[in-house]
Order: sequence, then C-alpha cells, then structure tokens
Amino acid sequence: MLSQQQNDLITRIGPKTPAGVLMRRYWQPAALVEELAGNRPVKPVKLLGENLVIFKNGHGEYGLMERHCPHRGADLAYGRLEDGGLRCSFHGWLFATDGQCLQTPAEPDDSNLCKNIRLKAYPVREKSGILFAYMGPGEPPALPDFDCFVAPDEYTFAFKGMIDCNWLQALEVGIDPAHASFLHRFFEDEDPDAGYGKQFRGESADSDMPMTKVLREFPRPEIEVDATDYGLRITTLRKISETNTHVRVTNAIFPHGIVIPMSKEMTITQWHVPVDDTHCYWYAIFTSFGAKVDKTEMRRQRLELYSLPDYISTKNKANDYGFDPHEQEHDTYTGMGADINVHDQWAVESMGPIQDRTQEHLGKSDKAIVAYRKMLVKAIEQAGKGETPIMALDAAAAKSVTGPVAVDGIGPAAWQNYPAQLDAQRRKAAAWWKAN
Ligand code: FES
Ligand SMILES: [Fe+2]
Repeated sequence: MLSQQQNDLITRIGPKTPAGVLMRRYWQPAALVEELAGNRPVKPVKLLGENLVIFKNGHGEYGLMERHCPHRGADLAYGRLEDGGLRCSFHGWLFATDGQCLQTPAEPDDSNLCKNIRLKAYPVREKSGILFAYMGPGEPPALPDFDCFVAPDEYTFAFKGMIDCNWLQALEVGIDPAHASFLHRFFEDEDPDAGYGKQFRGESADSDMPMTKVLREFPRPEIEVDATDYGLRITTLRKISETNTHVRVTNAIFPHGIVIPMSKEMTITQWHVPVDDTHCYWYAIFTSFGAKVDKTEMRRQRLELYSLPDYISTKNKANDYGFDPHEQEHDTYTGMGADINVHDQWAVESMGPIQDRTQEHLGKSDKAIVAYRKMLVKAIEQAGKGETPIMALDAAAAKSVTGPVAVDGIGPAAWQNYPAQLDAQRRKAAAWWKAN
C-alpha cells in the first residue's frame, strides 16, 4: 500500500514532475515507422504529456516538434510538407526538422523575424521499426545492444496499441508472472502448431506441454527476482513433478519495458510509453531467433483487434471488452475471447485511469512489482539530483547491456543452469546471432 503522495510520485510524468524528469532521460518510442510511410508523413503525437507533431521531410529526415505554431497557435499537424520542412497552413511559416523557423512569407521581404523563432524540437532516431524520441536535457543516452535492436529487420516486427490508463499499471501487469495462470487461462488447449504469432499458445521448450496447460495446472509459482544492469530478471518456477520444473524467465527493462518469451523462437520487447498521465501506448518489437518474421501475417493478426490510425483496440470499455458470460463459463477465464491483449487491457483499464495504490494489498506473488517500484523511486531521486539513473547509458556501457535471456521451458528439478542453456541453444541456431 502506498500513500497518495508516493502514488503520485511514481505515476505522473508531465514535464516538471519528478517521474517526468526521469522519463526524459531515455529514448521514448514516439511512433511506428509504418505510421509515417504513407503519402503525407505527418502525424500528431502526444508523448509524456506534451502535444507534438512528427513528420518526415522530403529528404527522409524525421522531425518531432511542438504542435502549435509559434505565430498564432494554429495546428501544425495540418501543415504542408514542403521545402524541406513543415509549413503552417495559416500564414505559411516554414519549420525545419530541428524546429528552426526558415520562412515567414507574409512578412516584408527584409524581415528578420524568423531568425529568432525556434520551436521546441526533439531528436528522433529509427530503430527496428520504431521512431524513438529523446525529450530530455543534454546528449541522449545510447540504446543498449538488446536482441530487438541487434537482429536484422527481417527478424523483427514492430506494432503498438493504446491503453486507456496510466503507464505504470500497464507495465506492472507485464512483471506479474502469476496473473497468466488466471487472466489468460484457456480451459482447452489449441493445436500449438496453429499458435504462430500468438503468446502462450505454443509448447514450452523441451516438452510437448502447451504453455496454456502449464499455466492452468500450476497456478502457484515460486518467483525469484534479481537486480541486473538493465532492471530486473524475473524467474518463475512451476514444479511439474519430482524431476521437472517449468522455468519462465522474463525481464523488467528500466524504465518501462519488459522482455518476455512469446514462443520457442520469438521474444517480445515491449515498452509502456506514457501519452499523458491517464493514457499509454504499448510498443512492441517481436524478435525471431528462428525463421524470418512473417510481418504481413503478424500485422494482419493485430489489425483484427486494433483500428488505425490510432491503434485503438476495437474491444474496449465501451463494449465491455466483448464479455460473454457463456464463454466465461466454458472456454476462457475472462469471457473476453482468446486474444490475451484484450485480457491485459481489461485488467489494467478496469483499475481506473490511475490505480489507487493507497487501497491495494500486495502479496508474495507481487514481488517483482515491489522490487521495480523501489528501483523507480531510487532512479527518480537520482534524476532529480542530476545524477545518471540506471539505463541512461553511454556508448561503451550500452555495448555490454545485451540479451536479455527470455525463455520458457521445462527443465530438470535442479533448474539453475537451464535458462542459460536454453538461451545459448536458441542463439546458436539464430542466423543473425554472432557471439561477441
Ligand atoms: S499561425 Fe502558423 S503561420 Fe500563422
Ligand atoms: Fe498478461
């Protein structure tokens, strides 16, 4: 249970708030590359509570800047893409990708007005299908050498989805290994071979047990949490028999990400990016250690649920997430269909816009959440003092932050070496993996 003040401290991310100052020390996913792939690559973006516009100019360079024109405040998201920048549709002021005003065409020929006009603009970089923005002070940190950034484009696929609540509760479901035995329970197992691109539908490694069966039949996991250079490693153990233990290794990636196994060959790296205090987007990179990713199929599956242009789930609060009491009795734990994204979305949105943590009662199974919040508070304090928090990496340090191990398999009772073995085996088989 937290005090109201503690809850505010760790959830609010506006520009002057302590957690907002911390969040601005990291690259933040701002848009998918595919969002700017059309004929008119301009899109409004709200990120960390700031209203912005992202665009790609005629030279293929990205810009991310304040959404309102500094002349008289018109909306630049409706601007014209021309002359290497974005031009306001009201009086034609032109802005470069770095926010510098280049022209004020309604002013007299000899006007110098534009020289002193510069919009707040943030650097943007493209990585594995996502456009990342840096909204903080000084030099941006380096991105770590995680698998999702190291794997070539054909082995990754990026997507996103809106969640109608604060970012922290969306993250906390991702570091809560116990919920999968309940929220994502299926009363019957599907054919694991039909599970491509879906989580929990395949078999655990080294067994013919579908993950759904493991989760359903062993609901009281033992959870181990270890601090690492990137955040937390969470090892979830389910004792299957005297000789076998189901081991699932997931990770909290500071400040708001997770890396989890999706299937034997794929992992998911997912960030929970604050739009403002009461909305967030999940951004995910699916990384394959096996075959090249079938991006068309992965995208088609996800577009069954998410509607464009804003990647909003078509099953949501307004239609009770498709809740069907008959299904809840016979097929699934939630009665909300087979897509686990809907389950998670219901769980976190149903807590309210910002979960009231003054009323919660955490148990042993919430161990990773407790450890993560401690880490978050410490990093908020460090950022507040101008110190370097965890994961604000320089280029040298970024090279050593790799992996991480994210596996799911059935190993021996003495399971301690098993995750590393499983991980090494998978890397060895990956066409793109080169050991350093
Ligand atoms: S308001 Fe944008 S140019 Fe006038
Ligand atoms: Fe979940």
